[in-house]
Amino acid sequence: MSFKLERVKTGIPGLDELLYGGIPKRNVVLLSGGPGTGKTIFGQQYLYYGLQHGEPGVLVALEEHPVQIRRHMAVFGWDVRKYEEEGMFAIVDAFTGGIGEAAKRERYVVRSVDDVMELLDVLKQAIRDVGAQRVVIDSVSTLYLTKPSVARSIMMQLKRVLSGLGTTAILVSQVSVTERGFGGPGVEHAADGIIRLDLDEVGGELVRTLIIWKMRGTKHDMRRHPFEITDKGIVVYPNKVVRIRGDRIQIEEA
Ligand SMILES: Nc1ncnc2c1ncn2[C@@H]1O[C@H](COP(=O)(O)OP(=O)(O)OP(=O)(O)O)[C@@H](O)[C@H]1O
Ligand SMILES: [Mg+2]
Repeated sequence: MSFKLERVKTGIPGLDELLYGGIPKRNVVLLSGGPGTGKTIFGQQYLYYGLQHGEPGVLVALEEHPVQIRRHMAVFGWDVRKYEEEGMFAIVDAFTGGIGEAAKRERYVVRSVDDVMELLDVLKQAIRDVGAQRVVIDSVSTLYLTKPSVARSIMMQLKRVLSGLGTTAILVSQVSVTERGFGGPGVEHAADGIIRLDLDEVGGELVRTLIIWKMRGTKHDMRRHPFEITDKGIVVYPNKVVRIRGDRIQIEEA
C-alpha cells in the first residue's frame, strides 16, 4: 500500500521549498520567536494564502482586538472581510471577553478568556462552521503564562482538537529576547514542528532569520536563512544562509 503524504503550503515565498513542499497535513506547528520577529504576520499570511486557494481558516485572537487584526491584515492587502461574509474565515475573539461595542459584533467570542475549555468549545464550533483546514492561535503562550505546569496538558488538548478535526495549525509561541528555547519543554516536545524566527543585530543593523528546528513526517532544510518583511508580507531567502565566522554572523550564498 502506498501512502502519499499530504502537505499544506505555507504560501510564504521561499519557505515551502525548505519544507520539501509544505507542512505535513494535520501537523501542529509551534512558531516561536521573540517580540517583533514576525510571528503574527507569518500566521496571518498563512491563513490568507489558504483563503485565496479555497482553504477555509480560523484565527484565534488572544493578543489583539479582532478589529485591529482586520485592520493590520488589510495593510498587507489581506482583506478578510469578504471571506468572513462568505463563511470561509472566522476570528475567534479570545481577547475582549465580550466587553465593548465592537465585541458585540463578533460572532465567536470567548467570554471568560482564561477558560481553556470554553476556548476549545468556541474554537471547535468555528472550525466546523467554516470547515477550516488552517488554524492559527496567536498566541498559545497567553494560555499558560501564569500556569506553566499545565502548559503540556493544554497543548495536548489543543492538538487533539486541531489535528482531530483535520486542520493544520500554527501556534504562535512567545519567547523572551535572550531565550534559546521555544516556549517550554511541555509544548516543545508535544508540537509536531517548530519554526523559529529571530532578530539579531549584525554590524549595527537588525537582521531577520528563520530556522526549521523540527517537522515530523518530512525532511526539511537544516540551515538558518535570512528573511524580510515587505509590504506584501514575509519573504524567505532559501538561497542565502547565515553562517557564524568566529564571533560574527554573516549572510552568504548557500
Ligand atoms: N508593513 C510593514 N512592512 C515592513 N515591516 C513591517 C510592516 N508591518 C510590520 N512590520 C515589522 O513587523 C514587526 C511586527 O511583526 P509581528 O507583529 O508579526 O511580530 P510578533 O513576532 O508577532 O511580535 P509580538 O511577539 O510582540 O507579538 C514590526 O516590529 C515591524 O518591524
Ligand atoms: Mg504578535
